Amino acid sequence: MEKLIDKLSSAVSAAFSAAGYAPGCGKVTVSNRPDLCEFQCNGAMPAAKSAHKAPILIANEVVAQLKGSGLFSSCEAVAPGFINLRLSEAALAEHLEQMRLSDRLGVTGEHKARTVVLDYGGPNVAKPLHIGHLRSAIIGESIKRIYRYFGDTVIGDIHLGDWGLQMGLIIAELRERQPDLPYFDDAFTGEYPEEAPFTISELEEIYPTASAKSKTDEAFAKKAHEATYYLQNHKRGYYALWQHIMRVSVADLKRNYENLNVSFDIWKGESDAEAYIPPMLEKLEVQGILQESEGAKVIPVAEEGDKKEIPPCILVKSDGATLYATTDLATIVQRMEDYHPDKILYLTDKRQSLHFEQVFRAARKSGIVPAETELQHIGFGTMNGKDGKPFKTRSGGVMRLETLIADITSYVEQKILENQTLSPEEAAQTAKIIAVAALKYGDLSNLATKDYIFDLERFSAFEGNTGPYLLYTIVRIKSILNRYGAPWENLPLRAADNESAKQLQLALADMPEQLAMAYRDSAPNAVCAYAYALAGAVNKFYHETHILTEADEEKQRAYIALIALAKRALEECIDLLGFSAPDRM
Ligand code: ARG
Repeated sequence: MEKLIDKLSSAVSAAFSAAGYAPGCGKVTVSNRPDLCEFQCNGAMPAAKSAHKAPILIANEVVAQLKGSGLFSSCEAVAPGFINLRLSEAALAEHLEQMRLSDRLGVTGEHKARTVVLDYGGPNVAKPLHIGHLRSAIIGESIKRIYRYFGDTVIGDIHLGDWGLQMGLIIAELRERQPDLPYFDDAFTGEYPEEAPFTISELEEIYPTASAKSKTDEAFAKKAHEATYYLQNHKRGYYALWQHIMRVSVADLKRNYENLNVSFDIWKGESDAEAYIPPMLEKLEVQGILQESEGAKVIPVAEEGDKKEIPPCILVKSDGATLYATTDLATIVQRMEDYHPDKILYLTDKRQSLHFEQVFRAARKSGIVPAETELQHIGFGTMNGKDGKPFKTRSGGVMRLETLIADITSYVEQKILENQTLSPEEAAQTAKIIAVAALKYGDLSNLATKDYIFDLERFSAFEGNTGPYLLYTIVRIKSILNRYGAPWENLPLRAADNESAKQLQLALADMPEQLAMAYRDSAPNAVCAYAYALAGAVNKFYHETHILTEADEEKQRAYIALIALAKRALEECIDLLGFSAPDRM
């Protein structure tokens, strides 16, 4: 359906046209002087230039045309030529009623729906999932939901780091600890055991131990490299062990992401790119794109006009090993074959920007990706502690995601228990929901590219620009609706009869425009900003209106209809951000 702001622009454009001026001058914007008016149009100024006439005269003529339109309760020409507009309460309510009756509150895709591969999460198998990957998962999940809301088909791919040296390290370490396992017996031809020879907690201990050892023990490091090589060449026992590592880790990852309300459509990884590498290299070779450089094979990707030096994209090292860029380029080959996407979007921290720039250029230069497919990398900033340095645990180690969530949850649970509104059981459940909202909103409300400071107390506060504040607002509405006692699901909207009701209606009518911006810019922070403003309008209305004690039933029904719509809008927003609201808190 048409956005309110577009409806207003059409009306004002028609007025410009009827008065003999270019309709293009009729663009309406939200007023930057809310004390004077709700909307404004500054088109009389440019119209004046071509008409050689004072802008105020033109503004007056346009205002005269608008008088009969019924859309505005007031329109005024103000020196030097502004047109100040207030919307008629009836027209606003009618517009909102259309929104209420539409599927996604009037939000529609204005473009052709796209197929998008979204590469986010990106954890490295067998390494504990920690904060480094948290932002990618949180931002990716939200962008996925926003894209889908606007009609795109999104394939969310976790792109596991499952093929690198960490696998060789684990295998080498296992071999030292349990040399008698059949996986290490080259003569063994039978079936390997179904059960993995380690648990997830053992696995999580094995990797850091092996990694530390490889830094001081050269012989061990060599063994780990060998093991990686053998694995990548599918040595039978090593490959079987790798499959165990995968099964055990992926089960654990799934549990972790579930707690965060994050999910993926496909669980492919670096290992899946492997089969695409040799044919890709061969083709690049034939095309003459791949060049020798000091024994390595590279694609030069520097372009004229580069502001900084972009080194060549190295695909094969002089020792024959392939690299991160090789895997990523081959993964693009696979994605183009499987999905023919209109866009591939990657979410990692911004230190990988150069890597993606090189890979994207190589993909274009080689024709792996056609011009009409968009490649984008959103490089986000780091989550810092209050000291401004990358977030660490109290003991200084890298904080595990699980521990972080547990910390926030117990902090929130404590607060709820102090309020004494919920039983201990409900408090525990509710705390989990609120903790996810606190963590996600704390992250998403920032511009993704910026660093931000993780502040447990601030993120968990029930007041202020936080996730829990949005939940609190929804819970407040739910409680009024419960106490209202009559069915509220289908009440129509009515013209606002007080200023805060009108402001709330205007905020609701703004939703399609604000979400469209979030969609266009792949910016969950725009959803946060909108939801926060909307929650503010809800709470102002709540404080200034006696909803439940209103004696006039018709008025009361209109108030209930309004907050019910606000609830739906807020719930849509938090769903786009990847969290949900409890019934009470
Ligand atoms: N596993 C990588 C890391 O931990 C992130 C993967 C991002 N995706 C990609 N296609 N490179 O840094």
